[in-house]
Amino acid sequence: MNKNIAVLGAAFGDEGKGHIAHAFSPDFDYLVRYNGGGNAGHTLYRNGKKFVHHLLPSIDFRNKETKGFLGSGMVIDLEQLLNELIAAEKDYTGVSNRIYVDPDAFVVLAEHKEEDKARNGDLGTTNKGIGPAYASKISRRGTRVKDFLKKGSLITSVLTEMGVNFVHAMEMKDKFASGKILFEGAQGVMLDINHGTYPYVSSSDCTVAGIAASGFNSMMPSKVYGVAKAYSTRVGTGPFPTELQDPEASDLRMRGKEYGSTTGRPRRIGWLDLPALKYAIEKSGITSLVITKLDILNGMEKVPVCFRYEKYPVCGDDFSEAKIKLLDVKGWDNAKNYSQIKEFIHTVEYWTETKVSLISCGTDKTDILGL
Ligand code: IMP
Ligand code: MG
Repeated sequence: MNKNIAVLGAAFGDEGKGHIAHAFSPDFDYLVRYNGGGNAGHTLYRNGKKFVHHLLPSIDFRNKETKGFLGSGMVIDLEQLLNELIAAEKDYTGVSNRIYVDPDAFVVLAEHKEEDKARNGDLGTTNKGIGPAYASKISRRGTRVKDFLKKGSLITSVLTEMGVNFVHAMEMKDKFASGKILFEGAQGVMLDINHGTYPYVSSSDCTVAGIAASGFNSMMPSKVYGVAKAYSTRVGTGPFPTELQDPEASDLRMRGKEYGSTTGRPRRIGWLDLPALKYAIEKSGITSLVITKLDILNGMEKVPVCFRYEKYPVCGDDFSEAKIKLLDVKGWDNAKNYSQIKEFIHTVEYWTETKVSLISCGTDKTDILGL
């Protein structure tokens, strides 16, 4: 069994997977992004300062060893990558050297972003050109990073001068095989193009299928951590069975600072949805769970949790008409005190039939606790 792991979103994105991948990253040689693009917003804290990575993997740059790989399953806005690297270089000189980009990845062009804005309709996309870029790819009209390299474009030349490496995953296979890889998902299973709440989804493979699609079939992770918050959020439109209305929603939104890290939009808020989580686990190959933001619920006497739907969901459509059933679990004052959150954790494990192996109760690495 290899030592590779995956950290992916088990809900509608924004579960805190970046925080978890960031904490794990010093123990890994490579952090590999395998899906999505600049629509992602991974919020990370280093020495109390907030950083948001969009295209860059959630590497803790304080560690000088970990390298980042942008896989062929991604769609990359090269200007956004340049801007992100310039910002990162200010705090951590030389990070560009540690970034590898697969030339087979597709490029998000200006026209894709324009089309996204013009055709967004009622989907509420991030306007980062993701859907149109994947549409070009699938309809065989796409432009790959290697096309930019071949024509000696200014942007790829500047990235190369900065130190960025353009290398196929296959050329890295010996390095990958002798090291440890953390595959970092973007978005979440409920936004997966095949298994999410279509058409209210993103346009990529958010499950482990995306890892395989990026060409890592011989290095698939032996452990897959599915990350979910202790409550639910969703940005953009689409089914959200446990959604709350104000004032409960606005109260939790404020406490959890639930505003989109890419678009700044207020996130919709709901209770934890265990049938959706079980569905995500089964669809995506998750082997254990990480529950984040338990501290946001500190002080609640009872914590409502959706434990079942009238009809067990078997496909993405089943979330639009779901009739949910809630139960109240004993609340807690201090999420770091296991005896206080035990009932909640057991409830999650019972209804999902999956072990919760880690919890997170804050933004620092020390706030992540093993169970
Ligand atoms: P797109 O990925 O920009 O096409 O947006 C499609 C849907 O996915 C919209 O509802 C977005 O709000 C949502 N979405 C895309 N990326 C993220 C993310 O990283 N976190 C949360 N929601 C996302
Ligand atoms: Mg996010």
